[in-house]
Amino acid sequence: MTTVAKGLEGVVAATSAISAIENGMLTYRGIDIDVLAERSNFEEVVYLLWHGRLPKASELEALRSALIEAAGVPEDVLAVLRRAPQNTHPMTVLRTAISALALYDAEAEDMSEAANIRKAVRLVAKTPTLVAAWQRIRSGEEPVAPRSNGSIAESFLTMLHGREPDPTHVEALDKAFILHADHEFNASTFAARVTVGTLSDMYSGVVAALGALKGPLHGGANEQVMAMLEEIGAPDRVEAYIRGKLERKERIMGFGHRVYKDGDPRAKHLREMSRRLTESIGESKWYAMSVAIERLVGELKGLKPNVDFYSASVYHSLGIPRDLFTPIFAISRMAGWTAHILEQYSDNRLIRPRAEYVGPSNVPYVPIEARG
Ligand code: SDX
Repeated sequence: MTTVAKGLEGVVAATSAISAIENGMLTYRGIDIDVLAERSNFEEVVYLLWHGRLPKASELEALRSALIEAAGVPEDVLAVLRRAPQNTHPMTVLRTAISALALYDAEAEDMSEAANIRKAVRLVAKTPTLVAAWQRIRSGEEPVAPRSNGSIAESFLTMLHGREPDPTHVEALDKAFILHADHEFNASTFAARVTVGTLSDMYSGVVAALGALKGPLHGGANEQVMAMLEEIGAPDRVEAYIRGKLERKERIMGFGHRVYKDGDPRAKHLREMSRRLTESIGESKWYAMSVAIERLVGELKGLKPNVDFYSASVYHSLGIPRDLFTPIFAISRMAGWTAHILEQYSDNRLIRPRAEYVGPSNVPYVPIEARG
């Protein structure tokens, strides 16, 4: 037995050609995330992650049309949302609804590459519709139909708020989707790969990923960051609050990373978006508090913000309810999960590590009458 790598830290579990985290940089199919964040759009990144190259104009147009066409959700799945208790966590609702989608997908068990690509399109297209529909249904309103034009970001904000979105908000959300789309073997992506590594279906794979993303150590951190900012309330209360948490050995959500030790390259884009958007809604205090927290946690713990830290004040500025922040992460990461599922299928080997047994051995069987 070799030494146990707790949390699989440092373990290289497989090769992958989708995204790379090297020297503090993140690339999707070899293209730097900084360039994609500035020049690309989410639909183009979805194509890039799935197919390994940027689409031609006609291919991008075809994908946009396919996503728009697939954005609707069966009424029987909406019925699941209508019957869910209003206080159900949106990630629990999303995990359940995505699972229910499989009941109405005639290709759910079809493992051909063509069917799997079509399912990937349906999953990326329908996740935003489900997240927005839950917000409307739990608020006592009817879901708003997906747009018959525009981007996923534009359609999501339209379905969420029931009105034409501010173009600057659409642009910001599209950039956030680009930044969250993939990230090598993060916990939720690896959960998806373990699941489909048994040759289980794509829906099972993304449901496993949704379960993993929900946790506060992973995608659930962004919601916790906003809860922390609201609990602190004002910039002059940051120092006492953060010092108190660290003295109690509590974690500051949105900081630290298993792989990045000198900062998450996505954070700088989200920091600038937070500055602009919080100012645009007259709530710069959230950005000011975030910068103060970043400085103090850096000084006291040497930790830097990860993707979840500034995304909290960005999503808040877009009028997105706090408990929808992780579902927003899921909308984007559905692209990465499906890309990794397709890659796992293309060169599969069952993922089955070993455990170092530390329990008792040579234990006799004692008949129940002799157990006292
Ligand atoms: C995401 O993996 C990915 O790629 C994920 C992601 C993606 O795109 O898919 O990047 C998205 O999930 C980002 C991470 C979001 N989670 C959080 O912000 C939660 C807070 N962060 C931590 O819990 C932690 O930093 C992790 C979970 C992100 C990483 O944990 P590790 O690698 O297991 O590190 P660790 O828990 O062993 O901590 C090492 C040390 C410890 O100190 P000591 O006990 O050794 O003295 O650093 C400390 C920790 O206490 N530490 C923190 C801290 N993170 C680490 N201390 C305070 N606050 C924190 N946030």
